[in-house]
Amino acid sequence: MAHTPVLLEETIQFLAPRSAGELMVDATLGEGGHSYAFLSRFPNLQVIGIDADPDIQGVARERLKVFGDRVCFYAGWSHDFFADGPSARLDTILIDLGVSRYHYERGGRGFSFMKDEALDMRLDPARGCGAAALIANLSEKDLADLLYYNAEERYARRIARGITEARSRGTITSSVALAEIVAWAVPAHYRHGPIHPATRTFQALRIEVNGELARLPELLEGALAALKPGGRMGVMSFHSLEDRIVKNFFREGHKDCTCPPHEPVCRCGGHRKVNLVTPKGVVPQAEEIRNNPPSRSARLRVVEKVLDGDGV
Ligand SMILES: C[S@@+](CC[C@H](N)C(=O)[O-])C[C@H]1O[C@@H](n2cnc3c(N)ncnc32)[C@H](O)[C@@H]1O
Repeated sequence: MAHTPVLLEETIQFLAPRSAGELMVDATLGEGGHSYAFLSRFPNLQVIGIDADPDIQGVARERLKVFGDRVCFYAGWSHDFFADGPSARLDTILIDLGVSRYHYERGGRGFSFMKDEALDMRLDPARGCGAAALIANLSEKDLADLLYYNAEERYARRIARGITEARSRGTITSSVALAEIVAWAVPAHYRHGPIHPATRTFQALRIEVNGELARLPELLEGALAALKPGGRMGVMSFHSLEDRIVKNFFREGHKDCTCPPHEPVCRCGGHRKVNLVTPKGVVPQAEEIRNNPPSRSARLRVVEKVLDGDGV
């Protein structure tokens, strides 16, 4: 497998089943690393594995075949799965956001600037528009905003100008071509800095192409609605923008009343929806980061849906 599951022991510690015959949804199955570990350690657990990318789901299907009918699959976006309304209420949901190492190494869709591939970056290659079309059609300003807001790229304007100048000479269709354009657009110290100068540009485009930030609130809402009272949900994010959305969603759910402070009476009728199992989130230990450097930016947040009447 290309991908090493991140925060695996911590995920198991917080999301382990608490009774026999529980149902877990792995909403971002990838190559099935987390699911494999859960299914192996908890022989009565059933898992539904979801992935928007049919190729990587093929890999997971093969890997998880040994578990027979304890595992089944949904091919598509997880917010669509939750919106359809799963037929049973769920005990546990795991959401491990972003893309897998598989995508960088074997995706073949321009996720990495280390390989010269067509610039696509769609997880679901049958839907939406790819990265090449995006950079061909956005205005310089929209491109700069996208780089800034999706990846906090500090040279967003210079890179956007570099891209618009380059595309006036011909369409940008390959990952390496884009990486070179970015490298020439930024100052020399950034070009020779500790990370490749195109890292944030590629991240920003991937996030946009797959609607990763835009879809996240709907995904979290749907997942929480599908969870049983007392059930647990863990969300792992890999950058601060994503983590902020998760943190704020859980904080809102933890409040007893979400009315603005100046409202004289509670109009939201709300009560606490979740308890924070990991109030600050959990990050990898130094040893995990040493063994699996891509884990360094991970943060896992776990909540438990309140029981009816709990926290009112
Ligand atoms: C970080 S990887 C998961 C790795 C997995 N936990 C493992 O250990 O092998 C995320 C996976 O979820 C998929 N994905 C990301 N966001 C998704 C979403 N909103 N709906 C469905 N699949 C998604 C990606 O295609 C990718 O395969």
